[in-house]
Amino acid sequence: MSKRQGPVIFSDIEPYAGLKNAVKLGKSEEVLEILKNSNLRGRGGAGFPTGLKWKLVFDTEAEKKFVVCNADEGEPGTFKDKVLLSEYVSLVLEGMVIAGFAIGADAGFMYLRAEYKFLLPLIEETLSKMREAGALGKNIMKKDGFNFDIEIRLGAGAYVCGEETALIESLEGNRGEPRNRPPFPVDTGFEGYPSTVNNVETFAVIPHILAKGAEWFKKTGTEKSAGSKLLSISGDCKEKGVWEVPYGTSLNEILKLTGTESAKAIQVGGAGGVCVPKKDFERKIAFEDLPTGGSVIILGQERNLMDMVKNFLEFLKEESCGQCAPCREGISVFLEAVDMIKDEKCTEGYLQDMLSLAETLQCASKCGLGQSVPNAFCSVIENFKDEYKLSKTIKKERAFNG
Ligand SMILES: Cc1cc2nc3c(=O)[nH]c(=O)nc-3n(C[C@H](O)[C@H](O)[C@H](O)COP(=O)(O)O)c2cc1C
Repeated sequence: MSKRQGPVIFSDIEPYAGLKNAVKLGKSEEVLEILKNSNLRGRGGAGFPTGLKWKLVFDTEAEKKFVVCNADEGEPGTFKDKVLLSEYVSLVLEGMVIAGFAIGADAGFMYLRAEYKFLLPLIEETLSKMREAGALGKNIMKKDGFNFDIEIRLGAGAYVCGEETALIESLEGNRGEPRNRPPFPVDTGFEGYPSTVNNVETFAVIPHILAKGAEWFKKTGTEKSAGSKLLSISGDCKEKGVWEVPYGTSLNEILKLTGTESAKAIQVGGAGGVCVPKKDFERKIAFEDLPTGGSVIILGQERNLMDMVKNFLEFLKEESCGQCAPCREGISVFLEAVDMIKDEKCTEGYLQDMLSLAETLQCASKCGLGQSVPNAFCSVIENFKDEYKLSKTIKKERAFNG
């Protein structure tokens, strides 16, 4: 594969340059200060400030702390972590070692989705090479007492295990279901000890920041969204694949980048994301405008967007853990509504009931999966309602009574 290019992650860096600088700084506090100044926010979707997350773990006085790499990448339309784990795994692992130094942990886990099991030999081999190079194990980079090692644990094919508390349950060998929060993992994580859970891409950015500085990092992106984002771009476009773009890149620019002449809509953020119509293609990929874990799906003129919504809902129905009623029951009701809309059997009143149910799911579901179930449905209704003919009377028995 030709060399990938981009302003941050795909920019040049010497092996272990970030780790060496972290060790040279000597103290966790110094590393945490650089991260705070960089304004780095997590790349897994929610955008929590990484420096703050690490500081919260560092500040606890627990006897053990853990670093966890969330490599469960299961969002429909996302495959950028797969590229990082295949082509830049040493960078990701180096980011985890730096996290160990910063929070004072001596153990880390990579939670690898079952479907990426084929990457296991490569990751294990990279870990061995790091141990030989003194970048993992005891007295890392010859610093007395800096001990850290990484174990890989495999998921078993559940999307909800990407949610950080379900991931921790699964890491512990339990059924992967989200926990109540609070307490948060920074306080009560793996086996009850403070833990930082971060996305693969977040870890891949860290060595660059430590090697090149917070100011260098902030030169890319917007005021509120520093750096760049890896996008997994798929759908009705010529140049599908993983692209690194500065935060602040507009959807129009993405279309140009991927050689797309025209599009009806762009789904940003996967199954739980939003469907952006053509009139809004000047909107930008950024935490303050269109946040995304990386999934960007381009939809051509011929697409019936309700087909996409149905596809997402079927996926979410399969993947819901079923713990909480809004998510467990709500998804089926949305699926039924989608069929009614497609069959021209849905009334305006019923549609309004669905928008009200959407609010219930958004505020009463236990985790981000249920909370984001209605997003695609609502944005398609908001922007493309005119494409669907509503009925004057309900022609089908309803599952939901408003
Ligand atoms: C259903 C669901 C699936 C998720 N899947 C992932 C995932 O595959 N990878 C990931 O990094 N974060 C995922 N997240 C977000 C994590 O809970 C968590 O916010 C993230 O790992 C934190 O990392 P960051 O601070 O580096 O962004 C998911 C969240 C939900 C609700």
